[in-house]
Amino acid sequence: MKYEKTLPQDIRFGNGIRFKLPEVLRPGAVLIICGKHALPDIEKNLVPLLNDRKYAFAEPVSPELPLTEVAAAVSKARQINAVNFIGWGGGSAMDCAKAVAALSGADADCEDCFYGRAAVPERNNFLVLLPTSAGTGAEITANAVIVDQATGIKQSLRGPGMTADCALVDPELLQSAPPPVIAASGFDALTQALESFLSLKGDALTRQIALSAAEYLFRSLAPACRMEISALPDVARGSMLAGIAFASSGLGAVHGIGHPAGSIMHIPHGICCAILLPAVLQYNLPACRERFAELAGGLGFTSPEALIAEVIRLRKETGLPENFTMYGFSGDFIPFIVQNCRSGSMKCNPRPMDDEEVAELLRSLA
Ligand SMILES: [Fe+2]
Repeated sequence: MKYEKTLPQDIRFGNGIRFKLPEVLRPGAVLIICGKHALPDIEKNLVPLLNDRKYAFAEPVSPELPLTEVAAAVSKARQINAVNFIGWGGGSAMDCAKAVAALSGADADCEDCFYGRAAVPERNNFLVLLPTSAGTGAEITANAVIVDQATGIKQSLRGPGMTADCALVDPELLQSAPPPVIAASGFDALTQALESFLSLKGDALTRQIALSAAEYLFRSLAPACRMEISALPDVARGSMLAGIAFASSGLGAVHGIGHPAGSIMHIPHGICCAILLPAVLQYNLPACRERFAELAGGLGFTSPEALIAEVIRLRKETGLPENFTMYGFSGDFIPFIVQNCRSGSMKCNPRPMDDEEVAELLRSLA
């Protein structure tokens, strides 16, 4: 496995590491891509670091990244001849920065690349990512999850230029995230750690990293949601490690089903993960009991069942929902979810799921 091709070359972690930003940027104009709530923070924390550089903001990014926003930011990047791209925010802001950096340098068409009609071009600019939520791992991974609102299709854009050059993971940036955001994005990270460990594409190294990620997240997520600042570095570290693990191992059925389910019911990704995770773990258990026991034992649980029970308990403690009821689940959504869940993530799931099994799992969470 070639890890060096799937990870940013420069990953830096620690309180205050964002202040290294001027050192890593290349000469030339900067396009800043962030979420709606991050703007005040960026004006206070980021802009002073840019000194005399020419810079511009893309329109603030929506939580479930629309393809139209990617296209608009690509136009902006071309207008200012951006050489540096900064993605500062949660998963959608960083995903937008990855997509825009990759698509702006060549004569690429966003929609053609999104639907695989054209390849994502090689990148010849500089991309740096700073996560401010607790868990997507998007600063590490080589894909961007995008929704085409015209068709409802939510899928990953992938390509050789999608990996960031630099990730600056600063736990202090998590302090501005409200507890519900920490809970949801943290559950995304926990899901990524557990799915990575159980993935059919995992190896000894990715499992060791995923185990370590899960350990950090299990112990820090609840205190972080109670706004205990001392827990934030462990949440950020767990999230980053989960990203490093799944960038190589892939994920599983929570992510396979979660993308179309989240898209059609408009559920934030981390919440979708929290709803699906225990049910998918329970479904997978008979097919991978030995590996699951290794995971549970490594985390200090007596059995896989005890690990699943702790996931359910933690979900409750952090205020996340246990089913799709409040999102207006309807049986009419099942055909769309079944049709659009066959991503790479599903191929990594340790137990195959046929269409009826996906439908059955969804009905159990209605
Ligand atoms: Fe995820």
